[in-house]
Amino acid sequence: MKKTPFVTREQLDEIVKTYPTPFHIYDEKGIRENAKAVKEAFSWNKGFKEYFAVKATPNPFLIDILRDYGCGCDCSSLTELMLSEAMDLNGEDIMFSSNETPAAEYEYANKIGAIINLDDFTHIDFLEKTLGKLPETLSCRYNPGGIFTVSNGIMDNPGDAKYGFTTEQLFEGFKIMKQKGVKNFGMHAFLASNTVTNDYYPMLAKQLFEVAVKLKAETGAEIKFINLSGGVGIPYTPDQTPNDIHVIGEGVRKVFEEVLVPAGMGDVSIYTEMGRFMMGPYGHLVTTAIHAKHTHKEYIGCDACAVNLMRPAIYGAYHHITVMGKENDPCDHKYDVVGSLCENNDKFAIDRMLPEIENGDLLVIHDTGAHGHAMGYNYNGKLKSAEILLKEDGSVQLIRRAETPKDYFATLDCFDIYRKMGF
Ligand SMILES: Cc1ncc(COP(=O)(O)O)c(C=O)c1O
Repeated sequence: MKKTPFVTREQLDEIVKTYPTPFHIYDEKGIRENAKAVKEAFSWNKGFKEYFAVKATPNPFLIDILRDYGCGCDCSSLTELMLSEAMDLNGEDIMFSSNETPAAEYEYANKIGAIINLDDFTHIDFLEKTLGKLPETLSCRYNPGGIFTVSNGIMDNPGDAKYGFTTEQLFEGFKIMKQKGVKNFGMHAFLASNTVTNDYYPMLAKQLFEVAVKLKAETGAEIKFINLSGGVGIPYTPDQTPNDIHVIGEGVRKVFEEVLVPAGMGDVSIYTEMGRFMMGPYGHLVTTAIHAKHTHKEYIGCDACAVNLMRPAIYGAYHHITVMGKENDPCDHKYDVVGSLCENNDKFAIDRMLPEIENGDLLVIHDTGAHGHAMGYNYNGKLKSAEILLKEDGSVQLIRRAETPKDYFATLDCFDIYRKMGF
């Protein structure tokens, strides 16, 4: 499918007069339409809730949009919990799916009433010691091991993943938790990442539902919710077919009817923790081409770098690039599009066929709305960019300012840095 930016060259020419590149821009209209579709796709389940994976895009303005469609927050750290609390979310609207969790983070999660999703069997004891007693509602992350396959091949390798309880640990854990007073149980699993197929959630759901039925029969645990977590993917490359959330929701409904309903578990709530699917396509990284270098290859140097978008550098991930204003020009130039880090993997694209790029051209790097700005770091002393919301009426709102040197140096107060820098 042709990838078209959600913003035009004319709009960007206006925006850059106020907000210099690089920046991430998000599409309110797209976020809303998609969140509405997710809500509709699972409306057959009375208790359905999407807990947006805050780690993907921890911006309260964007999360606020999702809240209009009933979404809560899935948190993995203290600061994500703090952000959710600052947004006045109720406890049951916060899922805490962490791993290798410090005691202080469990205390904080418990204090704000978040639902705790344990990553490991030993954490039952750890949590009890930390809190004095186990909360009434508790969830466990399941990892059946092995390879996760769907009809069109291997999806991922849970047997190699550090997360979750084994099957035996899950059964043993539920018995122990029940003895210790837990009343409401949840199950969670994340077995494959960025799945571009409508089969992933239904296959995962079937596996979880079957285990849930056995768990209930063997331990008597009252299973209130099953959390399918994240992993629903997006088409980063133009040749991929996007997932259809209505087909996915219907697929989950079918296995729900087949497995849970006959077992008398038709009141179980389905939860999800999607990040990428909720936000990924609705973000662009906008950068300016500032250098053209002709050596052993043709390089386009831009004013963004891996600090603004790490996925190509760490995973070799493909992100589509549009040269704004040249959408219909022939892609007859082969470029490496690179950032300014002193790291040779700081390349947004390698050997990419694009229209001829001149200094000053604006490039849109697609699908940066999730695990984009959030993954940024400060290597080489580079500063993280601004985030801007393109609103439904076409106006823009700054939803996070760009970092400044003063922010970068803030933790060097032991060196009296602000005085020395004259800030
Ligand atoms: C526990 C948990 N839930 C949800 C997500 C969101 O995943 P995705 O963005 O692929 O939907 C992640 C991603 O790392 C995760 O670790």
